[in-house]
Parts: sequence; C-alpha cells; structure tokens
Amino acid sequence: MTKKEEEMKPLEARLDEALEESFPASDSARVTSGVQNAVEEVCMHYKYQVRTELRPKGLSGISESQITQHWSLYEGYVKNVNLFNGKLAALSEKGDFGVEFAELKRHLGFEYDGMILHEHYFGILKAGEMPLGENAKLTKLLKKSFGGYGKWLEEFYVMGKMRGVGWVILYYDPRAQVLTNHWIGLHEGGHPSGFVPILVMDVWEHAYMVDAGVAGRPAYIDAFLKNVDWPKVEQVLGFATQESQWQEIGK
Ligand SMILES: [Fe+2]
Repeated sequence: MTKKEEEMKPLEARLDEALEESFPASDSARVTSGVQNAVEEVCMHYKYQVRTELRPKGLSGISESQITQHWSLYEGYVKNVNLFNGKLAALSEKGDFGVEFAELKRHLGFEYDGMILHEHYFGILKAGEMPLGENAKLTKLLKKSFGGYGKWLEEFYVMGKMRGVGWVILYYDPRAQVLTNHWIGLHEGGHPSGFVPILVMDVWEHAYMVDAGVAGRPAYIDAFLKNVDWPKVEQVLGFATQESQWQEIGK
C-alpha cells in the first residue's frame, strides 16, 4: 500500500492497525508514516520522543549489540505510549468509554513505566570509571540508610539475582529522607508512591541475554555496576531532594 493510500484510510482504522502492530510489547518500534500521522492527528497529550542523548556507548562488559537490541525495546515503549494516548484521545472524543477504553487505560502504566524506567537505566550508564566520592551527598545518605555503601551494595546485588524478571531500584523516600531498595516486577507494579528513583537496574533477561545467555545475570550485574555514572546518580539525588516536597496528609 502506498503512503497516500495508507493516509486515506479512516483515522480509527489506522490507530487500530498501529495498536495491533505494537503487541507484544517487546516488539521493536515499527511506525509507518500513516500511523504516525494518525497519532499526531488525535494525540492531545504530550507526544514523547526517544531520548537519543541517553543512549550509552563503549561500555565495559555490555556490548554494543546488547545495547542496540535493548534500545529498540525502549523505542517500542515510546511508540506505544504515543499510540495508546492517541487511541484513548480518539475514544474520548467520541464519548466511547467502553471496554476498549478501560482496557487501554488499565495497560497504560505498563507502557509508561517501560519507557520511563528504561530512560533512568540508560541515562546512568557511561563508559569509564565514574566513582562515587567519599564526601558525596549520596555516600552520606547510603550510610544513614544502610550503614554504608558496602551494605547497600550487598543488598542491591542480592536483589538483582532474585528469581524472576524485573527491576531493582534505589529510591529516595522524601517523607523519611532515606534511601530504600525495591524490587519491581512488571514495569508498573510495586512502586512506592511519591518516592523518586535514583538508580535503576534492569534485570529482565533481555538486558543481558545477547552477551551472557540465561545464566549470565551475575556477570551482567557486575558489568552494570562498573558502568554506573555515580556523579550523574549524585545529580539525580540532588534534584530529588530539592524538588520533593512531602506533605503529610491531614487536616
Ligand atoms: Fe529492559
């Protein structure tokens, strides 16, 4: 079908085709021009872009091939967030709040968190040793929260090797002003509300299968930790502690 013929199809049909293309969620991004235009016609929300500036290069122990394949999954989540928002906007415009609307809304968090968590993950990986300084705010907060960097790392590492696929995330708790490690299974499940992700490690198998196979998670975690840009993580903590304004819910 030519580009012209594709654009002549009804808007809803193009959006439906785009959603069919977008499953399973692990598909890489394949956005035809007609579909892209359809999304732009109806998307009343912010249209998300792939954040190419976050893509890491030249990592130690994580190959370019591994990053390329993983990055394509991230692009798929960005595509799906825009598609879902476009479809939901079209249904809302028609006043059609039936089963399709409900199911898209129920699934939306998976797509959003798939996009956002991958941006956190890729954004703190950088080639070269970028150590955490002794006087860093993060170093002091790890001591307050866990007893020190070593104790935090022990827990974070063990959590990374837990059975199942998911994420291990170091969060800043703005209420208690401490850091805590959390296991997140599916992208959208288990996040402590209002906490700010400081360090995000992807332990879905797709994050290391290319380099290390199914049994390669420990080697991958070692490689991940070698490539953490700690000054960047310190910067993220700085933003979190400045911007988080926890207020007790009360009278
Ligand atoms: Fe991933």
